[in-house]
Amino acid sequence: MPNVTVIGAQWGDEGKGKVVDWLASRADIVVRFQGGHNAGHTLVVGSQQYKLSLVPSGVVRGKLSVIGNGVVVDPWAFLAELDRLAGQGLVVGPELLRLSDTATLILPMHGALDRAREAARGDGRIGTTGRGIGPAYEDKVARRAIRVADLAEPAVLEAKLDELLRHHNTLLAGLGAETYDKGTLLSELLAVAPRLLRFAEPVWRRLHEAKAAGRRILFEGAQAVMLDVDHGTYPYVTSSNTVAGAAAAGSGLGPDAVGRVLGIAKAYTTRVGSGPFPTELTDATGRHLGERGREFGTVTGRPRRCGWFDAVMVRQAVRLGGIQGLALTKLDVLDGIPELKVAVGYRINGQAFDHLPAGRQAQAAAEPVFETHEGWTQPTSGARSWAELPAPAIKYVKRIEELVGAPVTLLSTGADRDDTILMQDPFAA
Ligand code: IMP
Repeated sequence: MPNVTVIGAQWGDEGKGKVVDWLASRADIVVRFQGGHNAGHTLVVGSQQYKLSLVPSGVVRGKLSVIGNGVVVDPWAFLAELDRLAGQGLVVGPELLRLSDTATLILPMHGALDRAREAARGDGRIGTTGRGIGPAYEDKVARRAIRVADLAEPAVLEAKLDELLRHHNTLLAGLGAETYDKGTLLSELLAVAPRLLRFAEPVWRRLHEAKAAGRRILFEGAQAVMLDVDHGTYPYVTSSNTVAGAAAAGSGLGPDAVGRVLGIAKAYTTRVGSGPFPTELTDATGRHLGERGREFGTVTGRPRRCGWFDAVMVRQAVRLGGIQGLALTKLDVLDGIPELKVAVGYRINGQAFDHLPAGRQAQAAAEPVFETHEGWTQPTSGARSWAELPAPAIKYVKRIEELVGAPVTLLSTGADRDDTILMQDPFAA
């Protein structure tokens, strides 16, 4: 039985939550391997609605959940999320959730630096979530990060804070932002350390044992391929690798653990934050998609930019991310639109492109070459079998498969967990 890795195939918010929740009920362990509390999704289980940001979706299904070394962890956001879940009657203890002892911590100055830099960029801002994700990963790569295990060694923690503050206070002062005091930070960290350390362990050992015992592991990606720090629309990206290959490095397992790779894509496209978006619609159709699809950021509440399905971009994501099957979500949002468009190529300064090139100016200049499709009036909303879909909707899905080079193995036709048409179970593949 293979493991399954789920990643976003566009710019995030593809509806991973619903798909991951459905798969989590069939997995033994759920692992987060990158990103931090910049991610966010809402899970509806019975009458309860859970908002998750950092904690893997498995906890809601009572499945062992793991926060891997590749994740950046804000201790206060982590504990607040656990408190919120406990307030809803879901008490998550160390028997259900394990935290890598080598995960990097996000500290208050990371958020402050993230926001101060964005403010200084003005119109050139990236549109980050302001949660300190980028600055925390920068510290990790610069080898000065504070990691979970440091919380158990106060002398090391104090020395590392010295180095960290020398760096950050200089930057913050330069940007006209408030600086941080070592003593205060140290005591704040030592105050939360015991609660965090209850969850900490070398998770790679537990995952290795689980894998050897044939347990089903579900790797839950955050953000999406086009926000990948190497492969996305740089610099309008997040600061981690979001492709499936990152699941191995971000959890401490070998590449064979990644298993089947399921990409999630919306039947149209959305993006939050700045950056190129060739198929963006700024007209009434764009507004219709935003309203009908309830396109507001889960973390920041920002309205999402909306546009037609971009098959060029998703094909690129399929190849970069190693995507073997696609879950297509929110098909029902297209119900009733008389004519649909799908980007099948780009023109950039008069030249034809079958991919999005790396240059920033070229990306900004990319004009989509559209193919037009007949819409459908009969609703797909709530359809639970292929036979219930109107013929033009089937044609649309089939054409997407052809253009992106991956089969649609799962189709989501509504918010309800059961509004799903399953063509192929990724765990059984
Ligand atoms: P950061 O991850 O906060 O540094 O933000 C960098 C970019 O990634 C911004 O454009 C964000 O809007 C975007 N981003 C980060 N997390 C998510 C997510 O979970 N969904 C969609 N976009 C995201």
